[in-house]
Amino acid sequence: MIILGIETSCDETSAAIVNERQEILSSVVLSQNNIHAPYGGVVPELASRQHILSIGYVVDESLRRANLSLKDVDIYAVTQGPGLIGSLLVGLSFTKGLAFFFKKELVPVDHLEAHIQSVFIENRDIQFPSLALLVSGGHTSLYFLPEALKFEMIGRSRDDAAGEALDKVAKFLNLGYPGGPIIDRLAAEGNLQRFHFSLPQMTDKSLDFSFSGLKTAALRIIKKHRLSKKSPEFVDFVASFESAVVQALLTNVSRSIDEFVPKSLILCGGVARNRRLRKNFTTLANSHKLPAFIPSPEYCTDNAAMVAVIALEKINRGESFPLALDLNAYPRTMGTSNFFS
Ligand code: KG4
Ligand code: ZN
Repeated sequence: MIILGIETSCDETSAAIVNERQEILSSVVLSQNNIHAPYGGVVPELASRQHILSIGYVVDESLRRANLSLKDVDIYAVTQGPGLIGSLLVGLSFTKGLAFFFKKELVPVDHLEAHIQSVFIENRDIQFPSLALLVSGGHTSLYFLPEALKFEMIGRSRDDAAGEALDKVAKFLNLGYPGGPIIDRLAAEGNLQRFHFSLPQMTDKSLDFSFSGLKTAALRIIKKHRLSKKSPEFVDFVASFESAVVQALLTNVSRSIDEFVPKSLILCGGVARNRRLRKNFTTLANSHKLPAFIPSPEYCTDNAAMVAVIALEKINRGESFPLALDLNAYPRTMGTSNFFS
């Protein structure tokens, strides 16, 4: 069985091919970073226009690398949402066209569920129940997974996503786009004790996150100390801010472990590439004697392999996906299961 997955929810055009043994036969990711860099963030209209230019080539390249042709594809899978609506519609329309022409099943995939499932690409034996921290440019959420393919959201950011806060602070400092990886690199050399950030506190007992306060505090410190790339304490500031974001994330993970008593911990999403977060997440898991699972960096940021892999898992568990011609994209968090109900 050959599955072709397609992902265009934000600013990466991606296609991947997976077989029934869950081997990744190819994974092509074409980033639009250079297009959005001058604006310091993703420009939705430019993103959709670029997807429409790239998608044919990206799919073609994924087939070429796997030594296959479209006739070999048995099942199609595509990200349905959440994401930028124009970007999603490019991938969805393209994939729907292919499935329609070749009369194949089409698996609609939730982007956030696919991020969590990305950890299973390299790890088959993750024990349930599990807890997953998903940290990306658009979302920061905690999930309880009682069993495979069951994703129960137990906490989410009430304002900015963690990646968004990193990117905005980097933009304010003219560091470049996307800011997350640049902060990761610079922070490695800084003293994280140099600047103090108060961590967000929820007044209720919820496991929700908040990053806008940390972002505002960062901007205030930058102005007060007139920080720029040339300031001697610049890398210390970057390290202190990154460390505060990591601590804010892990405080909630720690609390959720006490409440949900999982058998494993998962970290995923683009910000899961961050080295401090990876290290401290693993340390936290060790201190609770729990195994920590984090995808390789290439599967943390947006990619179509995770889309194909979650489709395969759903099919293996007996779900079927006759092509629905009225399949539509959804921009905000809904989950594929309850959107139309
Ligand atoms: O999952 P993703 O590719 O796209 C969304 O679904 O949003 O995540 C992109 C986010 C961006 O905010 C980017 O700055 C961040 O992931 N990111 C990082 C690193 N690599 C990517 N943040 C911190 N450290 C990194 N190494
Ligand atoms: Zn993503």
